[in-house]
Amino acid sequence: MDVIIRPDAAAAAELTARLIADALRARPDLVLGLATGRTMAPVYDRLAAWHRSEGLDFSRCRTFNLDEYIGLPAGHPQSFRHTMETQLFRRVNLRPEHAHLPDGSAEDLRGAARDYEAEVARAGGIDLQLLGIGSTGHIGFNEPLSALRSRTREKALAPATRRQNAAAFGGDPDQVPSRAITMGVGTILEARRIVLLATGEAKAEILARAVEGPITAMISATALQLHPACTVIADEAAAARLTGQEHYRWQFEHEPEWAPYREESR
Ligand code: GLP
Repeated sequence: MDVIIRPDAAAAAELTARLIADALRARPDLVLGLATGRTMAPVYDRLAAWHRSEGLDFSRCRTFNLDEYIGLPAGHPQSFRHTMETQLFRRVNLRPEHAHLPDGSAEDLRGAARDYEAEVARAGGIDLQLLGIGSTGHIGFNEPLSALRSRTREKALAPATRRQNAAAFGGDPDQVPSRAITMGVGTILEARRIVLLATGEAKAEILARAVEGPITAMISATALQLHPACTVIADEAAAARLTGQEHYRWQFEHEPEWAPYREESR
């Protein structure tokens, strides 16, 4: 795992977007795993801006989102499908049939979960998976005690997660759906490369536990320590509780892999 600390949330999002854009340029038929959440909005803003200004091309890209609420009617403004449409899909030249999310309105949710796994496999697996982190330490909606080998499935949301996401539902946690369909931790770990973005003070404690704490199903993000190509990008506020900061900063300054990203991202 690499940890990269950027001065502020904008710089952290910019670097995340650059890693995605560079992967897409290197491989125009990239299979890209996407995440929702407030943290991701500036990343999608950058990608949309580069599509407009530099013609960043999504025409051959295929995307798979991590998760979707269960029980929201199609087109609901807080559905992750709708969020992705407005934040990214409609702003770039991604073909609608290439944009996949789990189907939270399916009658047969088990079948929908199975189909989603099959669809990812048919696409050849995920090349680059973007992740945020929830206040419970979840990735996707893999709440505490999600098996570290879990696959796409239905999952009950933790009370802390419903509180965290309440702002989008008029501030009332009870309005947040109680269940979601999410890629499993095992599904996520199969991505060839993973980039997790965390910004803001509220993420400092859980990020430190995820990156530096013992691996535990109580915090699904700790499973990322098992992944051979995982990069965590944090702003100063989210990185504040990491004990290894000096080492992470040294690595970013010296590892040849990061040379192209050092100057401009300062
Ligand atoms: C959501 C999503 C996660 C996301 C997390 C953080 O509920 N299921 O994929 O990473 O919570 O959200 P935010 O970026 O708004 O803090």
